[in-house]
Amino acid sequence: MSSKLNVVILAAGKGTRMRSETPKVLHELAGLSLVEHVITTARSLKPDNITLVVGHRAEEIETHLADKGLNFVLQEEQKGTAHAVEQALPFLNADAKVLILYGDVPLTTKESLQKLLDLCNEKTMAVLTSEVKNPNGLGRILRDPAGNIKAIVEEKDANDTEKLLTEINTGIMVFPVKKLKQWLPKINNNNTQNEYYLTDIVGLALADECQVKTSTCTDEHEAYGLNDLLQLANLEKIYQKQKASEFMLNGVAIVDASRFDVRGNAEISAGVKIDINVILEGKVSIQKNVKIGANCILKNCTIAEGTEIFPNTIIEDAEIGKDCKVGPFARLRPGTELKDHAKIGNFVETKKALIGKESKVNHLSYIGDSDLGEGVNIGAGTITCNYDGVNKFKTEIGKNVFIGSNSALVAPLKIADGATIGAGSTITKDVNADQLALTRVQQSNIDGWKRPSKK
Ligand code: UD1
Ligand code: CA
Repeated sequence: MSSKLNVVILAAGKGTRMRSETPKVLHELAGLSLVEHVITTARSLKPDNITLVVGHRAEEIETHLADKGLNFVLQEEQKGTAHAVEQALPFLNADAKVLILYGDVPLTTKESLQKLLDLCNEKTMAVLTSEVKNPNGLGRILRDPAGNIKAIVEEKDANDTEKLLTEINTGIMVFPVKKLKQWLPKINNNNTQNEYYLTDIVGLALADECQVKTSTCTDEHEAYGLNDLLQLANLEKIYQKQKASEFMLNGVAIVDASRFDVRGNAEISAGVKIDINVILEGKVSIQKNVKIGANCILKNCTIAEGTEIFPNTIIEDAEIGKDCKVGPFARLRPGTELKDHAKIGNFVETKKALIGKESKVNHLSYIGDSDLGEGVNIGAGTITCNYDGVNKFKTEIGKNVFIGSNSALVAPLKIADGATIGAGSTITKDVNADQLALTRVQQSNIDGWKRPSKK
């Protein structure tokens, strides 16, 4: 047998108990669909190909996974796990091993699968089993007095003694393709569910003088498949706890692991401190000594070392430099870039904005489609008027510019280095370097003014 590895992922089932419009394997765990978790783990084993068996809502699943380089095969009618595997046979290499995975069992580790693969050879198949507290609904592993597996019995076909067994079939198995091709056609559907059970293959392998080996996963969560939204939520909790533990053991201080969520791929350096209720989504990179305050949502962003994000801040598709201060209550929208030592204060919204080194937007402002140089100070209540109702325009602000409070900067607009804008101005024309621009009506103080009185 060659060292070739083929993977087949079963995902044709209906998932009726999810009671959901979404196909079961497209439900999300930690921001990624269940089947994506399975594919990522499968990929880590470097297989020669991955075949996904789809049936129920096949098109949606294929669209969702279109760019992943998988083979798709349609199982039009779901006649059981053996029938599902049979559909994938045309994609399997005769001299390979094939690993069977389920699209709704997302937490199996690479290590457990590798251990299972190592057991398989030309004359040996292997089954991943698990010891569980509650085996309800699952196939039980039957062993002979010497402890060798002799069969797998489905809950619905099991007798009362068999139902007491707590070692279950995870469904994950590995076979030499050559043998699988011989065994599959022999499986019948003479059982309570009239389904073609892949589990019947254990008896066929033994009858064919092949060995059947088992390996048990170290953590029972690895074998959890899910059938309803309650189980999905429980699995999410388990996943988040595992993720938080990983980060904490790598030197990230997380105040409360039960109030921390990662949905996607986060990289967090040692020395980072994270307060409660923080959500990291998509691709997030947080470098050393960053502090994240409570209730922050960070999505697809990089935060360089030493920066502090204060509570209730939302950041999306942004790049934050070193030693910046952001928030509390700031919203950095897509295309925001903060250079080192920049400051964004409370109730400030930015979008497509470059904020230069040491520049400050400290209070109550909107900065959109703008480039700010170094050392700029934007006064409270400044608005870049970037939109005329149809088109967007850019505001360019040079170095060391000072914008007085409550100014409206009407784009397109250039304000050159060192310029000053008087508070309360509406600026519509470019301002040259070091000029003072103001548009205020002169103040008049009128003596003896009487307020109107009631008639
Ligand atoms: C199966 C196993 C059981 C094991 C359990 C673990 C069999 C007969 N039983 O039971 O021993 O303990 O998984 O979760 O194998 N699928 C298809 N096409 C089909 C039928 C199923 O693609 O025709 C897919 C499903 O989408 C799912 C997986 O196979 O991803 C398992 O199917 P499911 O119906 O959940 O199997 P169980 O009855 O739970
Ligand atoms: Ca199941």
